[in-house]
Amino acid sequence: MSLVPSDLLATMHLGELLDLFDPDLPIEQAKSIPGSWYTDQTLYRAECQSVFARYWHAVGRIEQVQQPGDYLTFQLANDPLVVVRSDDTRLRAFYNVCRHRGARLLASETGRVDRFRCPYHGWTYDLFGQLRGMPEFEGVCGFAREDHGLVELNVACEANYVWVHAGRQPPSLSEFLQPLPDLAKQLRLDRLYFVERRDYLLNCNWKIFVDNYLDGGYHINYVHPALADVIHYPQYRTELSHYVSIQKSPLTSSHSSGETARLRPGRDAYYIWVFPNFMLNVYETLMDTNLVIPLGPDRCRVVFDFFFADPEDREFIEQSIALADRIQQEDIWISEEVQRGVASRAYAFGRYSVRRETAVFQFHRLLAQALRSHREPDPA
Ligand code: FES
Ligand SMILES: [Fe+2]
Repeated sequence: MSLVPSDLLATMHLGELLDLFDPDLPIEQAKSIPGSWYTDQTLYRAECQSVFARYWHAVGRIEQVQQPGDYLTFQLANDPLVVVRSDDTRLRAFYNVCRHRGARLLASETGRVDRFRCPYHGWTYDLFGQLRGMPEFEGVCGFAREDHGLVELNVACEANYVWVHAGRQPPSLSEFLQPLPDLAKQLRLDRLYFVERRDYLLNCNWKIFVDNYLDGGYHINYVHPALADVIHYPQYRTELSHYVSIQKSPLTSSHSSGETARLRPGRDAYYIWVFPNFMLNVYETLMDTNLVIPLGPDRCRVVFDFFFADPEDREFIEQSIALADRIQQEDIWISEEVQRGVASRAYAFGRYSVRRETAVFQFHRLLAQALRSHREPDPA
């Protein structure tokens, strides 16, 4: 009897899973990604190595790293990362991993340091990532200190956020985010101040939350009665770019006296998504961003950052965040219901609403493209 190595079995299994979705069909004919893509451990591991390792990813807010020595940390799938403003006032991004025995260097989400000191055996690195000190390391043959600095990633800023890319020659961030940079200027996102961060843990695959976000308003009338009061559903539109989609809806807020209208003011709402897991929800005087972080095939974390034009108006801020929280609880409820359903033998795949779900289809195609490149050498 010949034995098949387990990674070969996993590769064969992944190939079979990928064949279940055809990204080349037009939306009218396409079947959506299968239930197994929301539950399978092999597919999840492949996502960590492709979707979450080869694109630009938002990891934190620019205002978290304003002063020299300011840092923020972030867990990007399997990789702990740190972004720091180094002495020369430039931002740098590194894997938050010591080159000695691999301990994570920094555990706090944010802070200020003048160097990185590993908590395990005290190796130190400067803010340029260079290894500076290794206690009791004399006599080690062939060890060059300059070859053991922190491993660096690309970093850039756009739309109030810091983004990182692990590839060697990534596209420019502004090219990747098109048309977000111009839209961010048009919407004047830089006049909004960060006020509060909230974390939500969900018992569902990260893609279920993203699918729900991208369905062109399809679920609003059923899941979000308060939001349905102010969204002008017939004129809700979705525009697609390469890695970005923009859902835009006129608001009825200006001629409505309800609570939701007061808390979601303005002429239009913009729901902007960046592949694979970042969203910006923009109204006239406020914005919240959502970062969907995978924690396993059936668990994810969604991080909300709330920004307001007037950070002193505490009453409005509290009521506005409370409304966002109610809407989020509704999205959590339906996302977890979907996870229960797609894990069932009864669910093979679904179809797409041609009118409403173009952005979901775009997401699934980009996902398939990323996963198919999984076994090819890193193009960057
Ligand atoms: S693991 Fe960092 S000093 Fe040993
Ligand atoms: Fe929703």
